[in-house]
Parts: sequence; structure tokens; C-alpha cells
Amino acid sequence: MDPITGQPRLLTGDRPTGLLHLGHYIGSMRHRVALQSRYECFFLVADLHMLTTKPGKDDILKIAELARAIVLDNLAAGLDPQRVTFYLQSAVHEVYELQLLLSGMITVERLQQLPTLKDMARAAGMEQMPYNLLGYPVLQAADILTPRAHVVPVGKDNESHVELARQIARRFNNAYGEVFPLPEPYVIGDALVGTDGQAKMSKSLDNAIFLSDDSRTVHRKVMGMYTDPNRIRADIPGNVEGNPVFAYHDAFNPDHAAVAELKARYRLGQVGDVEVKESLYTALETFLAPIRERRARFADDTGHVDELLFEGTARTREEAGRTLLAAKQAMGLTGVWNRISRAAERRRKKGAGAAGVP
Ligand code: TRP
Repeated sequence: MDPITGQPRLLTGDRPTGLLHLGHYIGSMRHRVALQSRYECFFLVADLHMLTTKPGKDDILKIAELARAIVLDNLAAGLDPQRVTFYLQSAVHEVYELQLLLSGMITVERLQQLPTLKDMARAAGMEQMPYNLLGYPVLQAADILTPRAHVVPVGKDNESHVELARQIARRFNNAYGEVFPLPEPYVIGDALVGTDGQAKMSKSLDNAIFLSDDSRTVHRKVMGMYTDPNRIRADIPGNVEGNPVFAYHDAFNPDHAAVAELKARYRLGQVGDVEVKESLYTALETFLAPIRERRARFADDTGHVDELLFEGTARTREEAGRTLLAAKQAMGLTGVWNRISRAAERRRKKGAGAAGVP
């Protein structure tokens, strides 16, 4: 429970690096949607995190447009603007301050051992680790602790970062007094493979189906999906395991009996890839229909998303101010300045000489 509002809190967010796809949906968006009624929710557009791998001015100039698109993607996926506070991370300066205060709670060695950071550096073509990329999880901890969140739904690749935020919160509380609830990661399910069958779905690998793709694009991408490469004819028994078409059927086709039957026929060589893909296309269209409908509704009212982000950011700044003050008070930092400024004030009132004159 939050001591002020009496409700447990949830925080999550995305970097504004691209549009959201089916992999994001399976990895974390569906959990956000399912959990939103039980928590007071905060959702950040993590543009400061984007700067760790894309610091160029041209990338920064695209943030506003992508921030809108990401909020719209999340609204389309079913997040309720009445329940969720959307905000822009870079506009909440308290987060920058909190990150510095938290940075003493973790060692460089611990951060250097995280595989996620090495992966990100490699993917961005960086030979050396920038200081802000090493601090990525500390900034993420600052995000999570800013509204004093209890639960953090993320994809598997971010689980270690939430664990780290928990460790940072525990250490802070032990060192200075109870300020932060200990956040829990909420991670269910594995990453979704790409349409090419490689690793995971990702915009940069060009193997993604986006939540904003239209029907024709979805059809083209599904028909082009990688399947069992050994199956050159429909009457050759095929492999269901590791076949992305069936992975997507499992994830998006609610008709489990029909999927089981397709799998059985596929294994026996009694169904062609085209039929399996057409039925996946139909399932995806059914899944995307309400998402498209909500998107159209929100997109209709231009400016609505900006207003949500604007108001959410203002609301988050108030929260962040309270948290930062509590952290500084617990550390005794506010007292340092108070003592000095009060003493200076007293001296000025006494009419003593200017500073520097003994
Ligand atoms: N690291 C997340 C990503 O990979 C984005 C993010 C930033 C985040 N801060 C967060 C997620 C806080 C959950 C909680 O895109």
C-alpha cells in the first residue's frame, strides 16, 4: 500500500525507440492491461534510457513523435487513461536527482556483470561502455522508486534490472531508514520469436508484426513467415516444435482445440503451410480488431494523447517531489542545507558584513 493513497502501485514503461509489436504485447503489455484494475498505475516513456544507446540529436528530435505513438499503442492495447498516469521521463527532473542518490547503493562491478548491458552496447555497435549505459539499471531503479512502486511488469530481459532496483531499495532503507517499498518484478512467459524464427521479435531485426500494422501487412508478414525448412511439400511430416507459426498460434489463437488439431495434422503431413498460416492470419486479425478499434477512437481526438502526457507528467512530478524530499530527509541531506542557510540568514539579519569579510 502506498501510505499516502492507500493503494498498491505499479510502474512500467517503454523506451521511445520504435512502435510496439506482438513481442511487446506477449512480454509485458498484456500483463499491464490485466493488472491495471488492481493497482494505481504509472507508465513512463523512458527517453533518458533511450539516450544510453541513441544519443544523437536526430534521435532526440524524434522523441516527441515516438512518445505519442507509444502511448497510443498502449491505449490501443487496452490501458485505461482513467487508471494510468502516463509521463515523459526527461520532464521529471527529480528522477535525475534520485538516480544520483541511489548510485551509491550499487557497485560498478555488479553493473559490469549484467549481460543485458553488454548486449545493448554490442547491439548499438559500441566498443566501450558509456557511463550512462552502465548506469541504465540505476536510472531504472530511480524510475521505479519515484512513485514508490510495488510491482513492475516487464519482459524477461528486464527482470534482472527490477531485481537490482529491489536491492538498491533495500540497501537504501537499511542505510538511511524506510523510504521505499521493495519492488517486485512481474514476469510471465518467454519472449516471442520473430517471424523469421530467430531469437526474439525485434524492430531492429526486421522480424516484427506491429500492433499498428494493417490487415494487408499482417497477411503479407504471416504468409512470409519461417516454418519447418525441411518441409518442401504438404505431405511431408513437419516439425511443430520451434516452428514460429505454431508459437504464434499458441500465443494468439484462443481456439486451443483447433490448434491441437492443426498440430496433429502437421506432424502427419496432412496439412499445408498455407492453411496453417491462413488460420493464424484469421486469429491475429481477431486479436487485433479491438486494438484497431481503440486506436481509431483515440487517434480521432488529436491532442488527447498530448494532454494525457502533459497532465500525467505534472502529476508524476508532484509524486517525485515527495519521494525525493523523503529520501533527502532520511539521508540527512536536507538538514545540511537547512543549517547552513539558517546560519547565513541569522548573520545577515544581524547586519554583519558581507560574506568573505572576517
Ligand atoms: N528498460 C525498459 C526497456 O527495456 C524501459 C524502462 C525504463 C522501464 N524504466 C523502466 C521498464 C521502469 C519498467 C520500469 O525498454
